[in-house]
Order: sequence, then structure tokens, then C-alpha cells
Amino acid sequence: MYKIAFLPGDGIGIEVGNSAMKVAKVVAEHFNVELIINEKLIGGCSYDEFGSPLTDETLQACYDADAVFLGAVGGIKWESLPHNLKPEAALLKLRKALGLYANIRPAKIYQPLIDSSTLRKEVLQDVDFIVLRELTGGIYFGEPRAYDDDKGFNTMIYKKNEVERIAKIAFTLARERNRKVVSVDKANVLEVSQFWRNIVIQVHQEFQDIELTHMYVDNAAMQIVRNPKQFDVILTSNLFGDILSDIAGMITGSLGMLPSASLGSKYALYEPVHGSAPDIAGKNLANPLASISSIAMMFNYSFQMKKASELIEAAINKTLSQGYRTKDIFNEGDKLVSTTEMTEIVIKNFLEV
Ligand code: NAI
Ligand code: MG
Repeated sequence: MYKIAFLPGDGIGIEVGNSAMKVAKVVAEHFNVELIINEKLIGGCSYDEFGSPLTDETLQACYDADAVFLGAVGGIKWESLPHNLKPEAALLKLRKALGLYANIRPAKIYQPLIDSSTLRKEVLQDVDFIVLRELTGGIYFGEPRAYDDDKGFNTMIYKKNEVERIAKIAFTLARERNRKVVSVDKANVLEVSQFWRNIVIQVHQEFQDIELTHMYVDNAAMQIVRNPKQFDVILTSNLFGDILSDIAGMITGSLGMLPSASLGSKYALYEPVHGSAPDIAGKNLANPLASISSIAMMFNYSFQMKKASELIEAAINKTLSQGYRTKDIFNEGDKLVSTTEMTEIVIKNFLEV
């Protein structure tokens, strides 16, 4: 039995969230596992109802669950609220409360989408890697930090245990994949990167079966575009990972196709990379594949059901190979479908593959 805290949020978060839960239910039933889905408000809708974008009740539901699924939050309606009441504030607070220090963004090419990509086919063929980004440390949180009229500064700091735990996750993930980790830093100019590199090398002692190499971040950005096939697991810090994961995402798909997982030592949260897309919200136009693929990650990482995860991905691939596309990935000659139609086709394909 598994419990999901389901936080659809605002805008298309509700639509793609419903798609994700539909798929999760079918998959669980197919594998004879009981699934309990506990739906709670987060973001703008929670502010409207309770005056807060993240309530204790929602937090508690996350603490009680085996995995959290989040749709997206935000919208025009809440843009002028004070910073701490904005829907987006709920995300930062939630990630912090759940101690989610490891962010996984896969960059995997769906074969049927290669032809519509802007990159050359031979570059994209067989690309399948993940960017593992440290999420709770580094320059985004380091103290001291300040600015005045004359200067501004932040502190890029990593503690030993922060690097150790993310490095362990990188090597553990690599073991389930192609056993290659590239640790990305800027050790030629940054002391914090030299430190990062030393700790990663130490942790690697326990993972001798995994190949470890190091790369400077500027080169990594270039290599992801030039020859993305070379990568399996990219391990990197908060700032570098923020940038590299966006580059990696864009070479393999559109915003509507990108899933993510954020893991901590106790909790895990799965969400599409995109936001609440107010421009298309409520129109049954949103691409649900990022959310459905996030569910595949949930079955893999939180429920240890790798087979289920692979079948979901196979169903997505089959759906795309049949030519079905939501508007965001539609090209001349494709079959245009809505959010709910795409979801039903993926489910049908899941049951057939
Ligand atoms: P966005 O990701 O919501 O939308 C950017 C563009 O991509 C829009 O044109 C949208 O229609 C399109 N798009 C996004 N997801 C799509 C999907 N699944 N299918 C088809 N098209 C899709 O980013 P934007 O416009 O910058 O932000 C809108 C709101 O979302 C803001 O309030 C922002 O703060 C919030 N946001 C929330 C996030 C979260 O909940 N994790 C992440 C990013 C933004
Ligand atoms: Mg970013």
C-alpha cells in the first residue's frame, strides 16, 4: 500500500495533476498495489480558501505520505500579494520542510520527437542522462549575503555532509543506470569547487564500480549541446545545476515534457518542471506528459517499482510514435489531442504494452 499526497495547485496544475493521478491509479491497479490518494490545496487556491499558500494540514498530508505529487502553483490573480503569501512561496517552504536536497531532472529523448527537434538527429539519438542538482545548499542559501548602493555579494559555501549525501545519491543512481558520473564544478577558480571535488573523490571510494570524471561547468554546458550522449549522471551544485538542467531539458523536449523528482532522506516530491501556464489554463490544452513521466519517476524512486516505471515510459513513447500531440508539441501532419485525450491514450497504451 502506498500513500500519495496530491497537491494539484493552480492553473494547468489541476489538469495535468488529474492526468497524473488517473495514470497512477491504473498503474497501481495493474500491479495489484493499493494506492491511497490524499488531495490537498497548495498555492493560490489555498490562499483563497485559508489565507495561506501552504497550510499545516497540507504539510501534514505530505509528512504522512510515501510520496508527494505537485502540479503547479501561481497565477495572475495572486501576483500582487506580499512575497510570503505568494503561491510560489509555498514551493520553497514545502521543499525546505521536506528536506529535499536532491533534485533529479532527466534528459531523455523520446525517439518519435527527434524529427521535430531543432538539433541534429545524430546528436540526439539515444540521449538519456540525468542532472542531479544539490538543492538546499550553495550560493542560493549561503550567508552572509547582502547588497547596498556600492556592492552586492553572496556566499558559495558547501559543508562536508552536504556534498557527501548528494554524491552518494549520484553514485547510487548511476548503479541503476550506465555507471558513469560526471561531477561538474569550477575547481580551476573556486575554492568551494576544489572542496566539492575532494569530497566527491572520497565518497567515490565506496563506489569503485562507478566511473567518476570531473568537468568544469563552462565545458559541461558546451558538451551537453555538442555531444549529450556522453553523459549518464551529471552531479552538480545548486547554481550550476539550475542552469545545466534547463539546458539539458531544452535539448530533449518542450517544457510540457519535462518531469522532475526531488528527494530528501525521508520524503520525496515529484512535479513537472513547468508552471501553472495561465495562458492555457482551464482549456484542456496542457501537455500532461511531464506529469505522467513524473509519476513514472515516483514508481521507480519511491515505490521501487522499476518495471511499472518503464512501462509508463514505454506507453508515452508509443503514444508519441502514433503521432498524438498536444498543441505545444504539434507539427503539421500530427494528430492534435487535448489533455484528457492524451491521458486516455497513454493509459490505453500502458495496458497494451
Ligand atoms: P509556465 O511554465 O507556466 O509557462 C510558460 C509557457 O509554456 C506558457 O506559454 C505555457 O502555456 C507553456 N506551457 C507550460 N507548461 C505547459 C504544458 N504542460 N503544456 C503546454 N504548454 C505549457 O511559466 P510562466 O508563464 O513563467 O509562469 C506562470 C505561472 O507559473 C507563474 O505564476 C509562475 O510563478 C508559476 N510557476 C510555477 C512553477 C511551479 O509551480 N513549480 C514553476 C514555474 C512557474
Ligand atoms: Mg531554473
